[in-house]
Amino acid sequence: MGNVILIGFMGSGKTTVGLKLSYRLRRPVIDTDKEIEREEKRSISDIFAADGEQYFRDRETAFLRKLLKSTNNQIISVGGGLPLREENRQLLHELGQVFYLCASAETIYGRLKNDTVRPLLQGTDPQTKIKTLLIERDSCYRDAADVVIVVDNKDFEQILREIEQHVN
Ligand code: S3P
Repeated sequence: MGNVILIGFMGSGKTTVGLKLSYRLRRPVIDTDKEIEREEKRSISDIFAADGEQYFRDRETAFLRKLLKSTNNQIISVGGGLPLREENRQLLHELGQVFYLCASAETIYGRLKNDTVRPLLQGTDPQTKIKTLLIERDSCYRDAADVVIVVDNKDFEQILREIEQHVN
């Protein structure tokens, strides 16, 4: 379906890269977290608190299915946990070309140590949580990806150029 899809851990830069890429490639951008919040008329924190993570994960899968019916040649940035479901990885492949923005635990912690909006990082030791989740998730991200872009110590210009080199 010719979309460019950005996946990766929280704080890897998917939303910002998506916006910049949209401008550069002159294609619309969609962010799954923002769309789910808009449809639900509440924040992700509120969704997790009221209905739990499983409910949110089901909303992600339903949203991907909706995108498959209607979305061509767009940029799609997706929530960090979305590629964990095998079903979702299959849907991502059907939607387009998948780029994994790969960041180290150090990079992510540096960016998210003061985060207040990501329910999974609100415990007492976010640094350990990031390391553990990243180890668990990295293979899923790689499995979902057509292209891996390492983002550590790179500015946005470099990251965008690397992505553009690979866009079909
Ligand atoms: C999550 C990542 C978040 C959001 C939710 C769960 C995750 O999106 O979907 O808080 O499980 O990694 P970002 O990756 O855009 O922060």
